[in-house]
Amino acid sequence: MEENKEFAHGKGYRVLVADDDAGVRAAISLLLRRFDYAVELVTKADEVIERLHSQTYDVLLLDMNYGSGTSGEDGLELLRKVKVLQPRTPVILFTAWGTISLAVEGMRLGAFDFITKPWDNRILLERIETAIALHKSEENPSQDSVGMAGIVGDSEALQSVLRIAERVAPTQASVLILGESGTGKELIAKLIHEHSRRAKAPFVKVNLGGMSPLLFESEMFGHKRGAFTDAYNDREGRITMANKGTIFLDEIGDLDLSCQVKLLRVLQDQQYEILGDSRPQKADVRVISATNADLAQMVATHRFREDLLYRINLITLTLPPLRDRREDIEKLAEYFVSLSCKETRYTTLRIAASARHVLMSYPWPGNVRELKNCIERAVLLCDSDSIDGTLIQLALSQSRSFNQSENKTAATGTLDRMEEEAIRSCLKRHNGNLTRVAEELGISRAALYRRMEKYGIQQNETLRQ
Ligand SMILES: Nc1ncnc2c1ncn2[C@@H]1O[C@H](COP(=O)(O)OP(=O)(O)OP(=O)(O)O)[C@@H](O)[C@H]1O
Ligand SMILES: [Mg+2]
Repeated sequence: MEENKEFAHGKGYRVLVADDDAGVRAAISLLLRRFDYAVELVTKADEVIERLHSQTYDVLLLDMNYGSGTSGEDGLELLRKVKVLQPRTPVILFTAWGTISLAVEGMRLGAFDFITKPWDNRILLERIETAIALHKSEENPSQDSVGMAGIVGDSEALQSVLRIAERVAPTQASVLILGESGTGKELIAKLIHEHSRRAKAPFVKVNLGGMSPLLFESEMFGHKRGAFTDAYNDREGRITMANKGTIFLDEIGDLDLSCQVKLLRVLQDQQYEILGDSRPQKADVRVISATNADLAQMVATHRFREDLLYRINLITLTLPPLRDRREDIEKLAEYFVSLSCKETRYTTLRIAASARHVLMSYPWPGNVRELKNCIERAVLLCDSDSIDGTLIQLALSQSRSFNQSENKTAATGTLDRMEEEAIRSCLKRHNGNLTRVAEELGISRAALYRRMEKYGIQQNETLRQ
């Protein structure tokens, strides 16, 4: 492996390596010493236990088999004892691809990570470094806190997620972000990338929702012209685009089982093949995944691979729904008002007390995205210097029909139609009384006239029906 500056040197961190194969021990010790780790080598499970009685280590690298067979039971037994003796020391298991289920068993018992043999030196270094970095930052949580710009909210529920995000950002750890739609999963994913060592390289998003197996492969790995019937041109895969950067696997819960195994292979070996080209390619990506599905439940019902789950969720962040952190609503609303005003007007708008009241009492099933959409609409519709409760209500009623139409890409055409509809239904309700309509919509009579003219609405037309 070329000497590169990508790896923080081991700084004398202590690694205990246990493997019954002399070749494996020699290779690993050579590699780790070259990167300034203090390496100790042992051959048998008993020796690990012996050392742990008198020594501490920053990370343990343990093989699953120790001579007496290949069932891996030795390794699991050893792991159980290690977890009793030194529960906080991170353990990385060494296993063969064929016995990956053992590693999964080990993860359940509290191993930090697993690596398949034959290993790739770069991956091995990365995993060790990550284990140590996370472990250390857990011990000293306050160290150089970077803060995450662009994320609004003081609630403890959000702040505790952000603290973990800050901690994991500079490591190579794979991160799984859970949370309902609109809670900010993608935003957090981007921030983690921006605070990582990979910040200067690309952040590449792949939406795995509803992707067919063939499309998945060509999208992820790319293809050569002629690789399959419709492959008229070469196509670059997302993994290639994300090289040295971060790949964001959105809606990972939607991936079907055949694709899951393919994904696991790349993540495990960091190697892949472009469709129609059998030369193996190196994948150097950090993986962040997101879903609003319950992956643990999917594992229980065999719809999601447990080994893949462990591979993608070294760290799990769960974003709370907005209704569970109501104290964030006002700040978010103010933030979105100032954002929207910057884009569309010269002055900024106030949020009236009546508006705050409505904002606070609404349950926000669409979470922060719904709040953002609501405020954007309110700002568009507002023609005084403050947003009041009726205007928020109007914007909300639009956002609800907007969400129901399942159209996330807000075209102005749609916005116009919603505005038109709101005015028509309001006119009907108030029997064409323009003063009341203007009042309910929170706009001046003049503004109402302008809009009615724009949409060709007659004051009395709704009465005729
Ligand atoms: N705490 C926050 N501060 C500021 N903006 C936020 C915050 N949380 C979410 N947002 C904004 O809300 C919108 C929705 O967030 P995002 O797209 O990250 O949600 P998501 O969880 O990925 O949703 P989905 O599951 O529907 O894809 C974005 O415009 C995002 O910038
Ligand atoms: Mg998203």
